[in-house]
Amino acid sequence: MFNGTYYIETYGCQMNEHDSEKMAAMLEDLGMAQVWSAEDADVVVINTCSIREKAEHKVYSALGKLKHLKRKNPGMVIAVAGCVAQQGKSGLLAKIRHLDAVVGTHRIGELPEIVRRVQQRGERIEASDFSPDVASLHIPAPRKGRSPVCSYVTIMQGCSNFCSYCVVPYTRGPEQSRPLQEVVVEVEALANSGVREVTLLGQNVNAYGKDLGDGTSFVRLLDELDGVPGLSRIRFTTSHPKDFSEALAERMASLGSVCEHIHLPLQSGSDRVLLAMGRGYTRARYIEKIETLRRKVPGAAITADIIVGFPGETEEDFNQTMLALEEIRFDQIFSFKFSQRPGTRARNLPDQVPDEEKSARLAKVHELQDRITLEYHRDAEGSVYEILIEGIKHESGQVFGRTRTNKIVNVSLSDSVRTGDLTRVKITKGLKHSLFGEFV
Ligand code: 5AD
Ligand code: SF4
Repeated sequence: MFNGTYYIETYGCQMNEHDSEKMAAMLEDLGMAQVWSAEDADVVVINTCSIREKAEHKVYSALGKLKHLKRKNPGMVIAVAGCVAQQGKSGLLAKIRHLDAVVGTHRIGELPEIVRRVQQRGERIEASDFSPDVASLHIPAPRKGRSPVCSYVTIMQGCSNFCSYCVVPYTRGPEQSRPLQEVVVEVEALANSGVREVTLLGQNVNAYGKDLGDGTSFVRLLDELDGVPGLSRIRFTTSHPKDFSEALAERMASLGSVCEHIHLPLQSGSDRVLLAMGRGYTRARYIEKIETLRRKVPGAAITADIIVGFPGETEEDFNQTMLALEEIRFDQIFSFKFSQRPGTRARNLPDQVPDEEKSARLAKVHELQDRITLEYHRDAEGSVYEILIEGIKHESGQVFGRTRTNKIVNVSLSDSVRTGDLTRVKITKGLKHSLFGEFV
């Protein structure tokens, strides 16, 4: 059965990448074949991100480029999914005349039906209401994931925290957890089909299970998953510092498959700014939690997100962030200029920081963190790590994989190594963004 071609362009986070994998699987079930350019496609899906204004701009420019393709090929179906779809709703259809469908974050399971209605009846469709029992939450992770041996697994969707700067609670709805048994069955099936590593996905995985009201918790889920036959590694993202518990640090130490890495967004080192962000912790409290983690899990890698230029952030507040970065020494961070998002409380706060100032602060954060990351990578030289081989780069004659602490390691190709192997590698060179090693 050949039913045309599809192309999916993805912006944003791992949640979006995974949603795209699910949409791809659904279109393949219709008999469609994936292509790698919109020009060759009968169905184009733009899966969008609206976390910052820049991400949203990229979406509109991607959509703009499709206009002439649609003119050449009027039968082409163009759909927008993800966070921009969720926020734009029918307004997007009104504004973008060559758009056929808007598919909200809770509605991606309806994509095949939507495509069919557009193709057969020429309808223009908006499907963006939230549903109380998010059907999309139960769509299984397809086996054709990001690598033959690594897979994402959704454990919850949405966020109920309403940090003052963030659109996610509006674009993804309130926290909703997937039943524990459903997650376990999915992970077992993935492991059965050759997956060695899963990354459990949620906006705030530490809150997993709270909404189910049956005593389910994130650490219980980890306890259950640790025994899945064939599964070597469990990762998870994102964690919220206010919900990070000693029990989780203990699981990271005691459960063999749970990797020693946590992504724990700090956002700011200034208590005044943290309060205005509505984060629910102080810098001291955050550092206490990290100390607990490092005591229980020596060598654990910690990464974070940082926002510079939140409204009212003074030079002194910013210095507190720089000092926190020096003190904590994250393995890696993702840092962003504050962006005013529609509907959020921080959008209309006074004392917005000028863009040049934000850029200058961001550059300082980059410079500091690059130095720290490089120091970690240099320190790793001479040490031996367990690597899961994720793939082979034939052009450069290298294989690549990650340490349990989530650092990418490239190794010269060896005939005896296969994707999915757990091997031991000695680090020979620490670079800014990766490590180079040799098999031992
Ligand atoms: N401006 C800048 N960065 C933001 N983030 C979320 N909302 C905004 C915003 N309005 C960042 C946070 C979050 C990461 C996913 O994106 O650091 O942890
Ligand atoms: Fe956004 Fe805060 Fe929820 Fe993270 S915890 S998704 S930053 S509202």
